[in-house]
Amino acid sequence: MSSNRRLVSVLPKLSQASRMRARPFHSVISVRDLSFQSGSLESKFHDMKGKVSSLKTDPGNEVKLKMYALFKQSTEGDNSAPKPSALNFVAKAKWDAWNNLKSLSKDDAMSEYIKIVQELVSTEEPTSDSETKDSESLSGSKYETVLYEVKNGCCKITLNRPQKYNAINLKCYDEIGIALEEAAKDDNVVVAALTGSGTYYSAGNDLSGFSQLAQEHGGDMQKGAQAAGNILEKFVSSFINFLKPLIGLINGPAVGISVTTLGLFDIVLASSNATFQTPFPSLGQTPEGCSSYTFAKLMGHNKATEMLLYEKKLSAVEAYDRNLVTEVIDQSSFERVIEERLNFYASLPSNSLVYSKGLMRDRKRDKLMTVNREECDRLVERWTSEECISAIMKFMSRKQSKM
Ligand code: COA
Repeated sequence: MSSNRRLVSVLPKLSQASRMRARPFHSVISVRDLSFQSGSLESKFHDMKGKVSSLKTDPGNEVKLKMYALFKQSTEGDNSAPKPSALNFVAKAKWDAWNNLKSLSKDDAMSEYIKIVQELVSTEEPTSDSETKDSESLSGSKYETVLYEVKNGCCKITLNRPQKYNAINLKCYDEIGIALEEAAKDDNVVVAALTGSGTYYSAGNDLSGFSQLAQEHGGDMQKGAQAAGNILEKFVSSFINFLKPLIGLINGPAVGISVTTLGLFDIVLASSNATFQTPFPSLGQTPEGCSSYTFAKLMGHNKATEMLLYEKKLSAVEAYDRNLVTEVIDQSSFERVIEERLNFYASLPSNSLVYSKGLMRDRKRDKLMTVNREECDRLVERWTSEECISAIMKFMSRKQSKM
């Protein structure tokens, strides 16, 4: 496949960028030393470079990486820089992306760069984003990655990144915590439920978050990992400390942290097409969400081991058999049945529910907080390990290698 075809295939992804909420965009590209002579391609390239810094929509790491590589190829030609260490995740990803363009001419690289920026500029119309409008109309623009809705005493929090299979990014961790706090404080809320939009419940932790955090900490992996550990600990604590009944509505496949936190819910209703998987060892990682404690309690040590160490993927019925799920509902009637269940749960006296949950949960709370801290400490170590870094790089570059 020619380099050109390889590059053009990044373009369809850009329409997805326009679906994201507007936020300040600072490219990973540090653009310096632009010293082009006049010439139509070069002056267009120069123009486009100026437009990058005024973009408000973040096109995602994959596109930013491609733009970085094209920029370097346009201005410096083939990569002759020394290869960074594998532990320097961000620098290594950038080096690889640039290196993949070897032998692409500077003119072709410029043309591709221009095309990408033009498309980003033309799709930057956040007000036409239906996903954003829905979110704003339901929650007064407070949330970007979740929908927050209160109806008949039930607060429904919907993970709303369907194009990323509701992978939980840094913003989303934050917003789920804020949404739970809002539900806890609102006297109109009797129960809270968490679900996903689109086909997935959630694909788990957004694996691009690591590089984002490392970048925010000047490329320091250790500091980035520590920040990720704090975010995760806070996120899981918001489930542990949620005093009203918490219902999981598992509308489709669930991966990673969207599975491990289920032991902190009070009722889990799963659609018959839901699946449950925790592929931690393959990612060089270890369990979170208190699952290293709750899973053995729910299903016994050996079956918990089968999931957390050996990555067994469960069907909805298998998850029910292991007490991870309270009830399996046929996919065709899932929406109707959960509505009925939620209306019933929310019709019961609120204080009675809170006290009953407290009696069942309170004596375990300190234990759960300790487990949460220990799991996060281990993950901070894992996230800087070579095992984990190469697994994440493999995931991030899997599509590039298919181009
Ligand atoms: N982090 C970041 N992005 C993710 C993601 C994750 N955990 N899971 C899915 N996505 C994104 C993909 O990058 C893709 O976005 P793109 O089209 O912009 O590239 C989109 O969601 C759809 O995923 P894709 O891989 O194209 O779909 P698939 O049907 O081939 O595979 C999965 C679906 C869930 C099996 C696959 O995406 C996957 O393995 N994800 C990682 C899940 C995981 O390991 N989570 C636990 C992390 S601890």
